[in-house]
Amino acid sequence: MDIFEAIEKRRSVRVYRDTPIEEENKKLINDLVANLNEESGQHFQVFYDEPTAFTGVFAYSKLINVKNYIVIVGKKGKGQEEICGYYGEKLVIFLQTLGINTCWAGISYKKRNVKAVIEKGEKLYLLIAMGYGKHLGHKRKSKTFEEVTDLSAWGEKEIPDWFKKGIEYALLAPTAINQQKFCFKPLANGEVELKKGVGFYSKTDIGIVKYHFEIGALPKKATIIIR
Ligand SMILES: Cc1cc2nc3c(=O)[nH]c(=O)nc-3n(C[C@H](O)[C@H](O)[C@H](O)COP(=O)(O)O)c2cc1C
Repeated sequence: MDIFEAIEKRRSVRVYRDTPIEEENKKLINDLVANLNEESGQHFQVFYDEPTAFTGVFAYSKLINVKNYIVIVGKKGKGQEEICGYYGEKLVIFLQTLGINTCWAGISYKKRNVKAVIEKGEKLYLLIAMGYGKHLGHKRKSKTFEEVTDLSAWGEKEIPDWFKKGIEYALLAPTAINQQKFCFKPLANGEVELKKGVGFYSKTDIGIVKYHFEIGALPKKATIIIR
């Protein structure tokens, strides 16, 4: 499965089979995490066959039989949640290309059971559960193109295909409680402004959405400014 199909097929999966992740896939995942950590300066960590982090009772929703997860540990400070979202979603989509399902988890896990190393100046932001799903997730509601765009700077200009496809992929991105609080505003100078709304984990969402937009807009490489 290529990256485009992966974006189109991905859905949050909350119930997993016992099937372990194969050694060859573990190597691919570990290598990518190491590369992304180097590029981003974050400290993501992967755990396999560790079933306790997702046990317990949760207010929002429960993830069942999660045995593998990625811990999104990043630097403290301004802008870091967006970076974590962006690089975390790169992992999510890569996992999907391997046929491995995922679910971002901001609250549905037990922090004290998470086996992560958190250095000085770092913070545990979220987890990504991963494994082979019992089902492949559910179709969910989505905002429309019009609800997440502001085309005022373009006036009567015809909307280019790269922008339409970027928005289509941004709307397929996972966001906390499916809030989709973002707005893309193309500017007259060719850049694209990405505005975040106020909401639960909306800063992480914005990094995730940015990654989806970039893939959808390819081969166009628009500069995206987060505001
Ligand atoms: C930042 C973030 C945090 C999330 N936290 C949780 C969570 O704690 N528990 C959960 O069940 N789902 C969580 N999700 C998954 C969202 O509910 C899901 O992505 C959204 O409903 C859209 O559905 P989809 O991923 O199938 O497209 C989270 C997603 C994101 C992006």
